[in-house]
Amino acid sequence: MAPKKRPTASGAKSASTHGGATASFTGLRVGVTVVIDAGGGTLKVGIAEDGVGSTRVLANAGAKTKGGGHGAAATLFGAEIDEARDVNGMTMRRPVDRGYVVNWELEREVLAHAFRHALGVDPSGCDLVVTEPPFALPSVMEKLDETVFEYFKFRRVCVATPAALVKRYADFVDEKKRGAKDLSVLSRSGIVLDCGFSFAHATTILDGKQVVKGIRRLNLGGKTLTNYLKELVSFRQWNMMDESVVIEDVKEKACYVADDALVELEKCKERRGGVVRREYVLPDGIHVLRGYVREEEAEKKENDDSDEDDDDEDDDDFGARGPKKRKKKVPIPKKPKVVKADEPDHQVLTLVNERFMVPETLFNPSDIGAQQCGVCELVAQAVDNEDMEEAHQALCLLDVIVTGGCTKFANFMERFERDLRPLLSETFGLRVRRVSDPIKAALLGGMHLASDREFFESNSITREEYAAKKADIREAYQNFEYQSTITGRLIEYAAEPQTVDDKALEKQCAALTPTLERLVIPAAQ
Ligand SMILES: Nc1ncnc2c1ncn2[C@@H]1O[C@H](COP(=O)(O)OP(=O)(O)OP(=O)(O)O)[C@@H](O)[C@H]1O
Ligand SMILES: [Mg+2]
Repeated sequence: MAPKKRPTASGAKSASTHGGATASFTGLRVGVTVVIDAGGGTLKVGIAEDGVGSTRVLANAGAKTKGGGHGAAATLFGAEIDEARDVNGMTMRRPVDRGYVVNWELEREVLAHAFRHALGVDPSGCDLVVTEPPFALPSVMEKLDETVFEYFKFRRVCVATPAALVKRYADFVDEKKRGAKDLSVLSRSGIVLDCGFSFAHATTILDGKQVVKGIRRLNLGGKTLTNYLKELVSFRQWNMMDESVVIEDVKEKACYVADDALVELEKCKERRGGVVRREYVLPDGIHVLRGYVREEEAEKKENDDSDEDDDDEDDDDFGARGPKKRKKKVPIPKKPKVVKADEPDHQVLTLVNERFMVPETLFNPSDIGAQQCGVCELVAQAVDNEDMEEAHQALCLLDVIVTGGCTKFANFMERFERDLRPLLSETFGLRVRRVSDPIKAALLGGMHLASDREFFESNSITREEYAAKKADIREAYQNFEYQSTITGRLIEYAAEPQTVDDKALEKQCAALTPTLERLVIPAAQ
């Protein structure tokens, strides 16, 4: 098979910037609904009519390669970034800062590239479901409208928060795989914890609607964790301050959430970091294109071998402890290391307590000096708000949905559930579940929404409606009324409550928690 052509600077440029958006989409597919979840770190795109197979996760960034030995420096977008041969020294220019788009020009380039190359669509002939983070400023909302209606010229657009779409995904898409619908679907209530790139949000949803006072934000996400890891390894080993892409990969492959950080720190005091220690082989752009964590087995064996040697060394060092019968050292013939002619000496990063101290920040932000509470307190505070009765709080806690890339750390769920429990009243039940695909959940929820045509149309606006009501819409943004009044912004995550028998539901509630017997859930019409 012929090797894939390496993207070049000129190729990337012509794909992204020439001729504005509309001129360059001619001949591409129209008449479909595009779904976009544009996060601070990743851009998730798909076509509702084509289902899961059409979804793509791309970097929401333009990447600049270092150039040098392998050719000129290039600006890459989308899949070109994943396919780049040399990630060393690659720098990312991101349109999103602290969760909100600040560089719309770059965001348009990234989107245009995704429409053209990842989806093959002409936006001016398509409908759109797009996400927007909660509490977006009026200027951000206006820019989003301008981009989708005036720049890309979509025909009809529905804007929703990721939390609303994740809840929909968890209830209608993910749930289907697990069989019968349950309490959370019937009551349309729950809490969504989304730990993404820029920050973590806990959003309370009661009877299908987001409770505005039940939304809490922690200004800390995957980006902060990567930066923290960068600082730690740069201080202790190699200078990796310019290697965000490499260190993000180290974080994703080697870090985990500790059950108890203090116990884990004790383990690290064992010789050479004990069982916690791992080695990450750094990419060199020639033999190792993507870094990896060295096999545990190989590592263990290596440790055992070297332990024997080291023990003897210790004896020598501390010979003053007294006459000690030295074992006669039988020279063990060492297997000669077979070195292939082209096998280089890999550069490795040794990771010990960094592996769990970095994700620990999500639970204890004060570790890095952030004056905020961790993700467990975030959920507890979101649900404990003045707009909700106790019984409703209890109902929401029966469906805590966890999503976002940072929740993929090993052991995240166990620790989260264990630390959240003591923060809640004993009388409340607690059920925590993670969506099966934490990065794509909002996208899949959006695709499901788009496939419910009637619901989509009643929660979206057309380009013509936008042009006619633009001034009113902007005024409403200024007044922060969008959650309740503006058409085109999704208010409820699903159309109707599911067909529900009140008695059965109350019984189900009562079985889970005693305080819910008082609760009255609205029945389906
Ligand atoms: N296996 C993994 N383990 C740990 N972290 C991961 C893993 N996979 C991805 N991540 C991290 O998840 C983050 C991206 O998550 P996600 O795509 O949910 O965020 P986003 O939607 O781009 O951001 P936001 O919602 O904050 O705007 C990145 O910081 C990435 O490093
Ligand atoms: Mg996100």
